[in-house]
Amino acid sequence: MSDIATTTAESPARSPLAAEVARRRTFAIISHPDAGKTTLTEKLLLFGGAINLAGQVKAKGERRNTRSDWMKIERERGISVVTSVMTFEFEGLVFNLLDTPGHEDFSEDTYRTLTAVDSAVMVIDAAKGIEARTRKLFEVCRLRDIPIITFINKMDRESRDVFELLDEIEKTLALDTTPMTWPVGRGRDFLGTYDVVNGGVRLLEGGGAKTGAAQQIEIEELAKLNANLDVSAVKDELELVTEASKPFELEAFREGHLTPVYFGSALRNFGVGDLLEGLGKFAPEPRAQESDQRKVEATDPRMSAFVFKIQANMDPNHRDRIAFARLCSGKLSRGMKAKLVRTGKSMPLSSPQFFFAQDRSVADEAFAGDVVGIPNHGTLRIGDTLTEGEDFNFVGVPSFAPEIVRRVRLTDAMKAKKLKEALQQMSEEGVVQVFRPRDGAPALVGVVGALQLDVLKARLEAEYSLPVEFEVSEFQLARWVSSDDRKKLDTFIAANTSSIADDVDGDPVYLARNEFYLGYTRERAEGIEFTNVKDVKKKG
Ligand code: G4P
Repeated sequence: MSDIATTTAESPARSPLAAEVARRRTFAIISHPDAGKTTLTEKLLLFGGAINLAGQVKAKGERRNTRSDWMKIERERGISVVTSVMTFEFEGLVFNLLDTPGHEDFSEDTYRTLTAVDSAVMVIDAAKGIEARTRKLFEVCRLRDIPIITFINKMDRESRDVFELLDEIEKTLALDTTPMTWPVGRGRDFLGTYDVVNGGVRLLEGGGAKTGAAQQIEIEELAKLNANLDVSAVKDELELVTEASKPFELEAFREGHLTPVYFGSALRNFGVGDLLEGLGKFAPEPRAQESDQRKVEATDPRMSAFVFKIQANMDPNHRDRIAFARLCSGKLSRGMKAKLVRTGKSMPLSSPQFFFAQDRSVADEAFAGDVVGIPNHGTLRIGDTLTEGEDFNFVGVPSFAPEIVRRVRLTDAMKAKKLKEALQQMSEEGVVQVFRPRDGAPALVGVVGALQLDVLKARLEAEYSLPVEFEVSEFQLARWVSSDDRKKLDTFIAANTSSIADDVDGDPVYLARNEFYLGYTRERAEGIEFTNVKDVKKKG
């Protein structure tokens, strides 16, 4: 392990900033519900010895909808962890683990969180293989060329054939696999893992859970540990794996074509050390980020960051929020001033929340790759860029065309103005998208996952005392419309006023009753582009 730190962080040629950046690994865990993400997260945190608490950032109370998996850990195991980002140190490296909420349902939050990571760990239940949600999240990672490390979990239970599992990853995700470890014995007879790269076996019983060198145990010796083990079959299999596996190629991994695979049991804290070691060794340092002006290198000394998530604060009476910003370059120090590029105004970062430090003390500085929480009263929006004065916007924080569109019906018509304000806030926070029809009809809300509607309803009620119902609207689909030719766009909008709405930024959206109408209109709208993803930062 020690070679990781020396080859990255401690190289003498690096500036202090570059050395700090090189120590960072910012990642998320992607998985289908129940594959073991929560359990693995907990074990990773314990490895890092960093159960960290930043009190204000916890999601509100017992509200089911926004509760993150980390809060589940907190509740169930009585430990306190911060939501949204968790930072821990291990072997000289700083790991920032970003939470992707693990509901069955998709939310835009999940997608956006993946814009803020440099790599991802894909957790697969050994008995189930690739499941729907894993696949969907994987596709998002692929779009962004995020390298993936695979952890095949629950090896202590009956699993599917291991070769078959790898084959499934290769075929369904079009991703090459390199097993870094290999299970010895299966299910109840699972003894541990073989280190494919260095040889030796790490045993489940007897210290195997901890990181450290695998023991050089002869396969024959293993039979003494478990009489059910078919020694010659194990030997054949290991020979096959060692000879037939694709060798690990760092470049192919970094480009997202190959995944190193680790086997283990999060529940038994087995294989987690291997995984962490793999993350440290292979996962990329903070990457350069695209902006509308230039590519911003992480080691650029001028601080820059973008907001990828907004979380309402604990106290519903004070509408303060925490904006989670990923630092893309330079160093952020407490008290510094940053320029909010969207408004051109300067804002003091007087009390940014840093989620590191093992002893819960609040750090005073953060570096590219880190995530900071910035308390604000609605100044910051999703997709906002903060700089040290420069004018550029980071691109690639997306809005997705909603899969569900609803009309919001107020049960108290007197509160229409309040509803308008509340919906504006909720859309700025990214809870839902709000579309205001140009013909003056009541606002529509659009979501990617149905759960977002539950969140909206609960929050409107709790924070604004606005009881609302959702009605099915005549519109089912929404697409952003744009054109290189401003005149053409204006003509299109004028001809379709009753189907045009403005989004939160005032950008025009075409609302369609169904796919047929959409197709029909699109075919006839020459020169008009219909898109189902809007880059929050690419305005105009
Ligand atoms: P998720 O966040 O991906 O949804 O999964 P979570 O960690 O909550 O794990 C889902 C279930 O799988 C839990 O059981 C958990 O204990 C179990 N599990 C996780 N990792 C392993 C493993 O390596 N081996 C085995 N055998 N089980 C594992 P549960 O009964 O649903 O919840 P709980 O009451 O145990 O917390």
